[in-house]
Amino acid sequence: MVKKNFKGTALVTGAAKRIGKAIASFLAAEGYQIAAHYNHSEKDAQAVVKDIRKKGVACELFQCDLGSQEDTALLVQRVHAKFPDLNLLINSASIFEKSKFKIRDLDLFNDHFAINLKAPFILSSEFRKFCKRGQIINLLDTDIVKNQTTHIAYLLTKKSLADMTKLAAIEFAPHIRVNGIAPGLILPPAGKPTAYLDQRAKRIPLQRKGDVHYITQSVKFLLDHDFLTGQIIFNDGGEHLVP
Ligand SMILES: NC(=O)c1ccc[n+]([C@@H]2O[C@H](COP(=O)([O-])OP(=O)(O)OC[C@H]3O[C@@H](n4cnc5c(N)ncnc54)[C@H](OP(=O)(O)O)[C@@H]3O)[C@@H](O)[C@H]2O)c1
Repeated sequence: MVKKNFKGTALVTGAAKRIGKAIASFLAAEGYQIAAHYNHSEKDAQAVVKDIRKKGVACELFQCDLGSQEDTALLVQRVHAKFPDLNLLINSASIFEKSKFKIRDLDLFNDHFAINLKAPFILSSEFRKFCKRGQIINLLDTDIVKNQTTHIAYLLTKKSLADMTKLAAIEFAPHIRVNGIAPGLILPPAGKPTAYLDQRAKRIPLQRKGDVHYITQSVKFLLDHDFLTGQIIFNDGGEHLVP
């Protein structure tokens, strides 16, 4: 039986935790079936599926190491076989490690490029091949407009993903819209307490940290706004405006 507000199926990468999980739960409430991708966090991913199914929404798990080009190339096809109405791709999975402009950090460079940039590239092109119509939203970072060098490989991938968002918006038009969300202080990085964000928030224009519901608000805006493509929403309390 097709539900009244049925909108299709969303593949959300990194859906087991944090922002990806919040987006998956939000989309389930919005009328999307969910293809929830995870890599290592199987237990958390199973909890997400249980929660979404409890709401009467179809949800399936898809494990994939996005660092593997071969496995990543099959992910959209696997999802499409189960959900032929796949029409939304959220590229949220990512790694975020410190790295310097040094040869000794080349492994980190390669890992960041594989997971944060090459994987969204592969998934987006496969999405276009299998889905023909729909939307793609890439999770970027408010720091894409700055040049801090503490996480150089990470920052390069997010700057490139922002450009890729615009290039894909042109390439995939008119039937697929491609947009980006650049979060600021939403959740503390692994191992850091919430107080870390409170401290940093003092330096940004709105002087407070964000929350995952701001990200899902932006997702909704992009999904609903049928005339937007190639846009990047800075979801960051104005952080991108200040050094
Ligand atoms: N948190 C923030 O405030 C913030 C700020 C700026 C930008 N962002 C961006 O917003 C997005 C979501 O942020 P987040 O903090 O929720 O992300 P996160 O917790 O750092 O990572 C999300 C997921 O990425 C998955 N992942 C990592 N390596 C992978 C691999 N090799 N293959 C497949 N999946 C892999 C992990 O899945 P498993 O756990 O299943 O292994 C992880 O749960 C990211 O793109 C991030 O760069 C977030």
